[in-house]
Amino acid sequence: CRVRRYKFDVVMKNTTRLCSSKPIVTVNGRFPGPTLYAREGDTVLVRVVNKVKYNVSIHWHGVRQLRTGWADGPAYITQCPIQPGQNYVYNFTITGQRGTLLWHAHILWLRSTVHGGFVILPKRGVPYPFPTPHKEVVVVLAEWWKSDTEAVINEALKSGLAPNVSDAHTINGQPGAVSNCPSQGRFKLAVDSGKTYMLRLINAALNEELFFKIAGHQLTVVEVDATYVKPFKTDTVLIAPGQTTNVLVTANKNTGQYLVAASPFMDAPIAVDNRTATATLHYSGTLGSSATTLTKPTPQNATAVANKFINSLRSLNSQKYPANVPSKIDHSLFFTVGLGVNPCPTCKAGNGSRVVASINNVTFVMPTTALLQAHFFNISGVFTTDFPANPRHVFNYTGSGPANLQTTNGTKVYRLKYNSTVQLVMQDTGTIAPENHPVHLHGFNFFVVGRGLGNYNPKTDPQNFNLVDPPERNTVGVPTGGWTAIRFRADNPGVWFMHCHLEVHTTWGLKMAFLVDNGKGPDESLLPPPSDLPKC
Ligand code: C2O
Repeated sequence: CRVRRYKFDVVMKNTTRLCSSKPIVTVNGRFPGPTLYAREGDTVLVRVVNKVKYNVSIHWHGVRQLRTGWADGPAYITQCPIQPGQNYVYNFTITGQRGTLLWHAHILWLRSTVHGGFVILPKRGVPYPFPTPHKEVVVVLAEWWKSDTEAVINEALKSGLAPNVSDAHTINGQPGAVSNCPSQGRFKLAVDSGKTYMLRLINAALNEELFFKIAGHQLTVVEVDATYVKPFKTDTVLIAPGQTTNVLVTANKNTGQYLVAASPFMDAPIAVDNRTATATLHYSGTLGSSATTLTKPTPQNATAVANKFINSLRSLNSQKYPANVPSKIDHSLFFTVGLGVNPCPTCKAGNGSRVVASINNVTFVMPTTALLQAHFFNISGVFTTDFPANPRHVFNYTGSGPANLQTTNGTKVYRLKYNSTVQLVMQDTGTIAPENHPVHLHGFNFFVVGRGLGNYNPKTDPQNFNLVDPPERNTVGVPTGGWTAIRFRADNPGVWFMHCHLEVHTTWGLKMAFLVDNGKGPDESLLPPPSDLPKC
């Protein structure tokens, strides 16, 4: 095992997309930022130097951070932000993980431009559970706003209404040919006929789940969220913000150029419109020629495609070698996730109220001292440990909703004993608008044991849970007007954020944290903070 050292200079960079320029916050001047490479077992040291006027923090999304919560990154949860002119070394070891993850800024809306791939290779000499691809390519999907994203969200918070959507999606930083700017560049993927490529797909977008497809080519899914799955073929990949998916694609044509497209899930049926990001796949020899012979993907029904994709995900386990899913449950939790309202007398729009989001009717209020510091140093008054295990009001979650949509504000955590087991059912509510929520849990992988539409039924639904080969993830979609059930073991001491990975919903309060106590063994406690941990 090695030590890998990286330097992240957070700097402004004037960047041109969609025929207009603006200064953006970047790592090392790049959009998307640099890809980090490491092997399972390596120690990674990233020195982040803040040279911009904003507070900054970086999260290594999906890295388990066993006992090293100080390096996890969410601002005011595990650390105070790195202030302008300051720096901080994120120091962590990659234990028991290999595959594709991502890193991104975890404060305000800086993630829109501050993100990149994180590739963890298997230990030396350990092969993939599928034939070694000819080449591997990191493909980062994201969004582009012509205006400043901090201004977009600040404007929305002032008015109490929903923020604007992005002007385009991007593939490796480029919106591509479908946008309204004819000179806009696009990402080009060069292939040799007969060879197989592995694409490491990453959705770093702020607010939209995406479909990804390549005209004329099937994709074989082999991994999600850095865990292997039973390979299956699909035309279309569904990928939510924070999720990663490895696919194999065989260049089974002789020549030509094919359109690669990433389009929002909300655009049903799947089509190519002017917010769709496009790239091109080129057979060797066609890279320089003009792209007039592009084959476009055919439109399809979005919900049907999404359900089919999600239901195809299975881990490599089997009846003979079942997944290590907790069977005895210590904490059985039921969380509603959805939108609500809060009074807002200063809001000009919205009739004196603002849109908020909540879990079990609690709209999370960000503290001004990091929760992990408050926990470790016993600072009182920063959070309370009364996050409710169940909704306070039971109603028809996917029906018309209760008359009172007001949520409660609070900085509440749910406490778990070290090594206890958790089953968490997350139920989307139809309150205000039924919306899909890709929920991300820091510090753990979890097993997705069940999923359904309508209201969760605690009597009958668990009978159908998959405890044999459920996919293991760090981010899971709670379906619109439906529910998802996950299980995990609380074997990582610290404070772990859980939130919707649609940044607008996080901003509105769809977030909470789990506090996991120290265990008794010598390797079961949170390590002490590094000496350069940023001060609040
Ligand atoms: Cu990728 Cu808390 O986020």
